[in-house]
Amino acid sequence: MSTDAKNSIAQMEKIVSLCKRRGFIYQSSEIYGGCGGVWDYGPLGAELKRNLRSAWWNTMTREREDVLGLDASILMNPAIWKASGHVDTFADLMRECSLTNKRVRADHVEPQDGVVMKYSGATSPTGWRWDRTVSGLLKNGEHIESFRKRIRALIAQNAGESAGKPEEIELLNEEKIDAVNGSVDFHPETGGALGEARPFNLMLKTYLGPTATEADVTYLRPETAQAIFAQFKNVFDSSRVKVPFGIGQIGKAFRNEVTPKNFTFRSREFEQMELEFFIKPDEAVEIISGEVAAWSEGADLSEPKPNWGWQMWHRYWVDQRTKFYEGIGLGDVLEYYWQTPADLAHYARACVDILCEFPFGTEELEGIAARGDFDLSQHQKHSTKSLEVFDEELKTAAAKLTPEQKEALIQKRLAAEAAKTKGEPMPEADVRAWFERLFKGNYVPHVIEPSAGLDRMALAVLAKAFSETEKVDEKGKKEVITVLHLHPRVAPIKVGVFPLLKNKPELVAKAREVYALLKKHMNCFYDETASIGRRYARQDEVGTPFGVTIDFETCGEKGPELLDTVTLRHRDSGEQERVKISDLLGKLLPLVS
Ligand code: GAP
Repeated sequence: MSTDAKNSIAQMEKIVSLCKRRGFIYQSSEIYGGCGGVWDYGPLGAELKRNLRSAWWNTMTREREDVLGLDASILMNPAIWKASGHVDTFADLMRECSLTNKRVRADHVEPQDGVVMKYSGATSPTGWRWDRTVSGLLKNGEHIESFRKRIRALIAQNAGESAGKPEEIELLNEEKIDAVNGSVDFHPETGGALGEARPFNLMLKTYLGPTATEADVTYLRPETAQAIFAQFKNVFDSSRVKVPFGIGQIGKAFRNEVTPKNFTFRSREFEQMELEFFIKPDEAVEIISGEVAAWSEGADLSEPKPNWGWQMWHRYWVDQRTKFYEGIGLGDVLEYYWQTPADLAHYARACVDILCEFPFGTEELEGIAARGDFDLSQHQKHSTKSLEVFDEELKTAAAKLTPEQKEALIQKRLAAEAAKTKGEPMPEADVRAWFERLFKGNYVPHVIEPSAGLDRMALAVLAKAFSETEKVDEKGKKEVITVLHLHPRVAPIKVGVFPLLKNKPELVAKAREVYALLKKHMNCFYDETASIGRRYARQDEVGTPFGVTIDFETCGEKGPELLDTVTLRHRDSGEQERVKISDLLGKLLPLVS
């Protein structure tokens, strides 16, 4: 393993350990040995997540006039998952190990070198017998005896108690088959030969109702987005909005991930923050505005314009989301992956993954997709309920078009359909029928979907904030100091409040007063134990950006000019300033919210 890889693992281990030690994240059901791919957030983790959730909700809904919120249920009619394609296609291709039946994602198998060994079966002195031809990879550099020991242990593990002790298992008819280079046909952990790739659906099945028959099957939602599509018409009809507008939702999602990994990065239960931003089809924009703005490098994305088509809206949301990440301290660790036409689903026009630097590599934090009208059209088709909107402005503008202008629009669309490299082109009759409805002001809106994961975001800010430095104390002893440089907006505790000494009632009373004043407005922590340096260090370790110390000056012992002032310490610069208690809230609130 390279030094870089070792350092990354060590860094991740330190973050995981800090998360447990200080109450950010625990393994779910830890006292029972855990529950794979599921995590619990402790007191500080819950605050961190709450801050991230609020930052998203406020930026994406409350502070905008064109986005509304939704809080839909996790369980829905299973027909939704059929219409969305999740029942048929939300699957990973998996391969099964012939020795252990352990599955691995087909695209997660790294190439390996070695010699293929084959056995016709195994027996043990208990009378147990295994009549199955198996093969495994003797990796380059691995001793044949340790390979056999490994194979015996894996077989014993799989067979259970009846096989007896692993070292007493006899492997039958060993054969050296072939030397292989760069083979992806062996399980990365066990070395057992892998079977054919088969699809494995990631949705978690459950039953609605007491009979638990196949007719009652439904799923825990694998994404929050579909509820937005399913409720699109209700929100539209009840909220007096006009396209373009969006619906945002935050909530739990569940995926039976085959290989949950990298702490909370890929979990089986997680939270998503999704926006479905509904826009007019480009043809409607062209009819109303006479043109569709084309995107070019440096285009002004600050304010949406009526002539924006899907491309400008997509770029706009990438820009908005980037600004959001800058606002929570992740600006300088982001990268972008623009999916190529080969990566894109047949209905998608563009998709960009916002990637973030984690200790284990640069990985996806959020995806922003331009999905056309695929989702609403699917639900319209499967539910047989109209999900069209009526646009008066469009109808009026279309009425002014000459037949030639209308035909030119149709021809342009037919040419685009004919040029499609993925999916079936829309038949001409359907194109003409679609335009007929469009010219009357009716269409199914298209959508831009910025979809982020809250747990990944929390992990990203923790990883970015984590730092360690070595210090030598007064006694010459080296110690490692951990600081979380969390952005004040997301930090779980905003201010630590400390009386300089706990045995001075006047200091304690004043500190309690300051604590009571601040805690109504932000999450604060009161601490009077240990030296003041120790207390600062404890707060630095959990990312508290500010410390307020109440000392003798506060009580007026060093003159009236310092009466009712406190020391305000800034975590990152170590700077300390004298602030009047009456100015404290006004100074801190804008920094933490
Ligand atoms: N509606 C689109 C959608 O769900 P996705 O790329 O599958 O798209 C969006 O998921 C985001 O949800 C990802 O970028 C990631 O942040 C988060 N996410 C997806 N699967 C996850 C998992 N197993 N664990 C944690 N977060 C996950």
